[in-house]
Amino acid sequence: MEENRKKTAILTGATGGLGKAFLKELMKEDLEEIWAIGRNEKRLSEMQEEYGEKVIPMPVDLSNLEGIRRVEEVLKARSPRLKYLIHNAGMAKMGSYGDFSIEEIDQTVNVNCKAPVMLSSLCIPYMEKGSRILNISSASAFQPNPYINLYAASKAFERSYSRALNVELKGTGITSTAVCPGWIDTELLQKEINGRKVKFPGLVAAEKVAAQALKDAKRGKDMSVCSLYVKCQHVNVKLMPQKWVMKIWMAEIGKYLEE
Ligand SMILES: NC(=O)c1ccc[n+]([C@@H]2O[C@H](COP(=O)([O-])OP(=O)(O)OC[C@H]3O[C@@H](n4cnc5c(N)ncnc54)[C@H](OP(=O)(O)O)[C@@H]3O)[C@@H](O)[C@H]2O)c1
Repeated sequence: MEENRKKTAILTGATGGLGKAFLKELMKEDLEEIWAIGRNEKRLSEMQEEYGEKVIPMPVDLSNLEGIRRVEEVLKARSPRLKYLIHNAGMAKMGSYGDFSIEEIDQTVNVNCKAPVMLSSLCIPYMEKGSRILNISSASAFQPNPYINLYAASKAFERSYSRALNVELKGTGITSTAVCPGWIDTELLQKEINGRKVKFPGLVAAEKVAAQALKDAKRGKDMSVCSLYVKCQHVNVKLMPQKWVMKIWMAEIGKYLEE
């Protein structure tokens, strides 16, 4: 039975910009199966066509409990030797408190916060010494961010959960890494607001973030910060009062808020 258990990675948000970069990296690893999770079935099958049978498309909506239960069923049926669990699926919308419907708030919290926690609990029993959990948080988790408030708060949750989980896992040989990238060039970014082209300081390629994140996770680091730009940001927000940090943020984004 033990030898039939396949060396597996689970990657959520596989169909997105960073997900595709993670898939490329995972293809270099000694794995037998990569469960690629997302809602976009067409993109998932294209990925299997491109990379072959090792990629198992898993069309699942992580914003509801049925989706999580579906992953649980597959875990029970296949009993994988889980080497990697990458919580990469994420929802982001810019806007003020009044711009979100109740459904959007619910879905954002479900995908960005609840899904990583629930999937971690379900997956850890299938992990072993050397297995790695990666929680894709964000540099926006370092401080409160008006107008991407919900997103930033959800990422702060994910980062905090990941780091405390890493301590709880001490002694098991399993580690949890909170990945905190700055702006990444993917479809998630709103490139134009109120007719103005948005500038993203320190923008990096998804490939760079994925490669660094896996490298840091393998070293057992509890946080992965990819670029010098974000490393400086991390130090600055630790030293400055959060009110000042929010003032600087507002000065940066103010021009996009004017209609
Ligand atoms: N781009 C950035 O600047 C940036 C910066 C820091 C951190 N991040 C984080 O990096 C991660 C990847 O983002 P990205 O930039 O690659 O964005 P993206 O291209 O928009 O990808 C988002 C991914 O999340 C999946 N997803 C969204 N809602 C889902 C749901 N209900 N159920 C299942 N999957 C769902 C999407 O899959 P389907 O559409 O197929 O469901 C897609 O694969 C996110 O967690 C994001 O917060 C991004």
